[in-house]
Amino acid sequence: MGWNSLGITHDFMARQVRPGELCIDATAGRGRDTLLLARLTGPTGRVIALDIQPEAVEATRSLLRAEGVSGWCEVHQLGHQELEKVAQPGTAGCIVFNLGWLPGGDHRIHTTARTTLPALEQALRLLRPGGALSLCVYYGKENGLEERDAVLRWLAGLDSRIWNVLRLDFPNRKNDPPIPVFIQREGPACPRCHALPAPFGGLTL
Ligand SMILES: C[S@@+](CC[C@H](N)C(=O)[O-])C[C@H]1O[C@@H](n2cnc3c(N)ncnc32)[C@H](O)[C@@H]1O
Repeated sequence: MGWNSLGITHDFMARQVRPGELCIDATAGRGRDTLLLARLTGPTGRVIALDIQPEAVEATRSLLRAEGVSGWCEVHQLGHQELEKVAQPGTAGCIVFNLGWLPGGDHRIHTTARTTLPALEQALRLLRPGGALSLCVYYGKENGLEERDAVLRWLAGLDSRIWNVLRLDFPNRKNDPPIPVFIQREGPACPRCHALPAPFGGLTL
């Protein structure tokens, strides 16, 4: 019950994405985030989704087809450490990372610091002014703590003159709840873009 990471990140994405723009899902999985991005950009936009697992690529493609949004989406079997091969610097309105393993898949195959950190660096370069990255950090169990710790260290080092960084946690919740993180590049944005998710009552970043 109560707030959950997926709801909060989807709320953020809904406020962030402008119709007609480029968005990227850097961990496609079963395509739920890709689908939301596709609905938000609409057919005048473009969505690129990446995953290393054929099962995830196929699941995402078939979800997008079933929902009638595949016309403006591309799904690549590619590691997100190669993000800069699929988009130009300064062009993306929203980039989503949902770390961890494929839901319902092999838990031994999951994101790791070794590729996530270079991917995050590249993602920041791809964001337009006012663009934002939504990151959900899963940890514990097969994921361990190494990736979480490396990502949190990396966040703390981002230049505050350029990057607004927001990290949420659930201090009284058990079982390693994922950590939602939002990084927004300074710059002109639409009036809706700076609003925090609804549970936080319209505070501004
Ligand atoms: C938690 S799942 C993503 C869930 C997804 N966003 C959804 O809506 O279903 C994490 C995904 O990251 C993928 N992954 C792991 N390493 C990756 C890498 N280097 N590049 C891209 N995807 C990777 C896994 O295969 C897995 O499908």
